[in-house]
Amino acid sequence: MRRNLLHPGATELVYEIREIVKKANLFKAMGVAIHWENIGDPVQKGTPIPQWMKDIVAGLAQDSASYGYCPTKGVLSTREFLAARTNALGGAQITPEDFLFCNGVGDAISKVYQYLDPDSRIIGPSPAYSTHSSAEGGHAGKPPITYQLDPNNHWYPDMEELRNKVKFNPGIVGILIINPDNPTGMVYPESVLREIVAIAKEYKLFIIADEIYTHITYNGAKAVQLAEVIGDVPGIGMKGLSKEIPWPGSRCGWLEFYNTDKDPEFARLVKTIEDAKMLEVCSTTLPQLALPKLLSHPQFQAHRDSINNDIAARGEVVYNTLHDLPGMIVNRTYGAFYNSILFKPGVLKPHQKLKVENPQARELVESLAEGDVPLDKRFVYYVLAATGICVVPISSFCSDLLGFRVTLLEEDPKQQKWLYERLRSAIEEYLAS
Ligand SMILES: Cc1ncc(COP(=O)(O)O)c(C=O)c1O
Repeated sequence: MRRNLLHPGATELVYEIREIVKKANLFKAMGVAIHWENIGDPVQKGTPIPQWMKDIVAGLAQDSASYGYCPTKGVLSTREFLAARTNALGGAQITPEDFLFCNGVGDAISKVYQYLDPDSRIIGPSPAYSTHSSAEGGHAGKPPITYQLDPNNHWYPDMEELRNKVKFNPGIVGILIINPDNPTGMVYPESVLREIVAIAKEYKLFIIADEIYTHITYNGAKAVQLAEVIGDVPGIGMKGLSKEIPWPGSRCGWLEFYNTDKDPEFARLVKTIEDAKMLEVCSTTLPQLALPKLLSHPQFQAHRDSINNDIAARGEVVYNTLHDLPGMIVNRTYGAFYNSILFKPGVLKPHQKLKVENPQARELVESLAEGDVPLDKRFVYYVLAATGICVVPISSFCSDLLGFRVTLLEEDPKQQKWLYERLRSAIEEYLAS
């Protein structure tokens, strides 16, 4: 090529949740049975889709309107339905004009960061769901700017660090929260959210809240939505169908814009995001038509409650199986459906290994584990080779911490018990090796 093809941010794009699948498939081809613990897809893990949901979707397939384009911002009646729900929270008041439907929150995330000035930065949590950190680093052409979630304090954010980074870095224009959080399972306390809003107000920032798991809480926790606490600070709420219905294959999510009238620059950003979607015409119509029918169905809440109870029970199994292991930090979870299991600083070493029976798998893992591989990724490769369990290293979630993320989605109790007991014995063997 006569010159560079790529944006400087191209190297920031990492999505280990799927990248690890390539490695797992190599082991699979060698005869290792893989247990997929890498991705937050409840449907893949067997969460039952009730017949009444299927009937709604099947009924819409009989409606010709579901085959057409819809308005760029999304189906109007659906936006009216959602605006009423948000307004009923009693905080920010929005109209159907303050929405933009996207093809999943993943699409929404890339739209939001893509057109920001490269020098305007969004500070986000570490660890973080890597679609955010990659999109942010990608737009800036530099590594993401982060605030730490503290594993020794229930994974709550280090507020002093957040405040100081905002204060001393005038490039920061926004704060990202993921609430409930992926990958930690933490739910932001209301007082912390209010403090974040106060920082945003003081430094004239906007807030992005990824609330895709907002109704997936348990153990007595409730996720307070950004709309409830934002006051007159500009903000964006990100919500979707993938996790709560669950319907990840719908590729349906949306943005809610709060206080666009309070800051002209923020209003220009919102207009630009809408213009970007207009170039694509609109997002998928059928799931948008389904959304009000699904969420207002008389059986929806019971369905959601029952899945949340199951997640809570699995969260307990993970905690009880792993929390007393020497060398590890394990927190209880309160929302979403993941737990981040950490190695204490210094316990992972580059010589550690697991016994791998399959000779081909042993040879492969030894070559993968060589060289400049983060120590938690090395552990994850050994776990794959020796047990077939496919988890994701925490260092891939924009973090300097070392550990791995598990999902709380396994439907079969026997399989779940086996998974976590096997992980426990793998940790013990690896650390003692
Ligand atoms: C925090 C968070 N945001 C967004 C997404 C992507 O959601 P969608 O399926 O709507 O693209 C995920 C998926 O795991 C997620 O965990």
